[in-house]
Amino acid sequence: MPHKKLLIRDNEEITPGYFLMKIQSPEIAKDSSPGQFLHIKCSASNHYLLRRPLSIHQVIDGKYVEILYKIVGKGTDWLSKRKRGEKLDCIGPLGNGFRLIKSEIVFVAGGIGIAPLIFLAEKIAKTDRLASITAFIGAKTKDEILCADKLKKLRATVHIATEDGSLGYKGLVSNLFKNNLSSVVCRLSSVIYACGPKGMLKEIALLSQKYKIPCQVSFEQFMGCGIGICNACVIRTKYGYKKVCKDGPVFDTEEIDWSKI
Ligand code: FES
Repeated sequence: MPHKKLLIRDNEEITPGYFLMKIQSPEIAKDSSPGQFLHIKCSASNHYLLRRPLSIHQVIDGKYVEILYKIVGKGTDWLSKRKRGEKLDCIGPLGNGFRLIKSEIVFVAGGIGIAPLIFLAEKIAKTDRLASITAFIGAKTKDEILCADKLKKLRATVHIATEDGSLGYKGLVSNLFKNNLSSVVCRLSSVIYACGPKGMLKEIALLSQKYKIPCQVSFEQFMGCGIGICNACVIRTKYGYKKVCKDGPVFDTEEIDWSKI
């Protein structure tokens, strides 16, 4: 997979610590599917460990891709300081992406886990498969609740949870989801798409298995090479170890060995 030096068109802090970056690449815009990611070099040095996997958040006008990211360390801090007009070393799109299989869509997103789900929502809204989108989004505080308006524009019903109770339900988004489970279970064609911290994914996965609702989860995982070579991203599945970068980042919950997570 070739490296590409891509032009940054925008890199805006949308709320403290969270940035939306717009990158110009008609090629990546054309080839990307929801759930895939870019492996972006987050340093002026050449060491491969200094890349970060960042989900494709949106494709704009067929020639730009956006990434929505949070500053969590040196790499993303470096990224946040990049300016319009600079070039960025990217590999991608990488990974498998979500499969669109049913019409009653349920999203569960924890924190920055919302990032890939907007691209998915837009894709689904353009197909004839959509009956409804119900989204459960959670964060620590109301300032970290992202994309609720974007989801509402796509006619989603949005439920919000904040850990400090500053907006919506007070508590974890997985508990909010659990409280509303009856409305999800009673539909015959629900499918859940979840992205967020592993603990949240496990909760949602176990509930989906209990109530036999198909569920796909996207893992946020540390990566090295991003292309299946270094084994930095392995995860235990019922069929042996798999690589999040190459076999994922999206997996069916049935596939994962949740007892090891
Ligand atoms: Fe190297 Fe996945 S990051 S194998």
